[in-house]
Amino acid sequence: MEVVIVEDRCAGADLVADAICRLAMKGSCVLGLATGSTPEAVYDELARRAFTGRLDTSGIKAFLLDEYTGLPADHEASFTEVIRRQVVERLGLGPEAVLGPNGLASDLESEAKRYDASIAASGGVDLQLLGIGSDGHIGFNEPGSSLGSRTRIKTLNPATVSDNSRFFEGVESRVPKHVLTQGIGTILEARHLILMAWGKAKAHAVAACVEGPITSMVPASALQLHPHTTVVVDEAAAQHLRLSDLYRATYAAKPSWQRI
Ligand code: PGA
Repeated sequence: MEVVIVEDRCAGADLVADAICRLAMKGSCVLGLATGSTPEAVYDELARRAFTGRLDTSGIKAFLLDEYTGLPADHEASFTEVIRRQVVERLGLGPEAVLGPNGLASDLESEAKRYDASIAASGGVDLQLLGIGSDGHIGFNEPGSSLGSRTRIKTLNPATVSDNSRFFEGVESRVPKHVLTQGIGTILEARHLILMAWGKAKAHAVAACVEGPITSMVPASALQLHPHTTVVVDEAAAQHLRLSDLYRATYAAKPSWQRI
């Protein structure tokens, strides 16, 4: 696991956008997109680069990490709609370029299987963006999730319902209780994982993810098993990392040709 401690989220977004631009230059790239506050700075930076011609969007395809069940696709908090506003429109992607699990499917179990199969059929995800929940979740894999799990229905932790109520006018009862989420096993199949965290509210979860034991109690700790994970955190989110000096020294000594 590589840990990169940046000054602030803008510096982190720049670094992550560089990695995406390099991939996009190869002609075709499959991104895994997360929603929530964390990746917004990256999407803003990608939009700036697309606008100024520094990002070639022609070969970009993407898969969403998760989706609420039961929300109309055009509900402003549905992840399909969030990604349409934050990424699809601003990067000028075609309607088929970004796919997500259908939270309105009549048979959600079959939909979950179909979604995993569609990711595999695309050749797999090149670069998966991830946030982390204050309870250590990735995607909507809440504590206790199987580390080998595939896309499936999950029930949200009440703590996550509370965290996400800000996208539902602050009313917890409006937050759907169920979601379709890529499983931890699905996520680990992406070729490069980038987990980002900003702010002190994520500091304990980041420390448990990076330096704690691998355990389903902290789903993000499964990233320790992946051969190419980059954790990009700001100073506040890094504050409980015991080996922060080592991470800083290692990153500072990295040869310039070797990117994240
Ligand atoms: P946030 O959520 O980016 O809104 O903090 C992260 C997550 O729940 O995975």
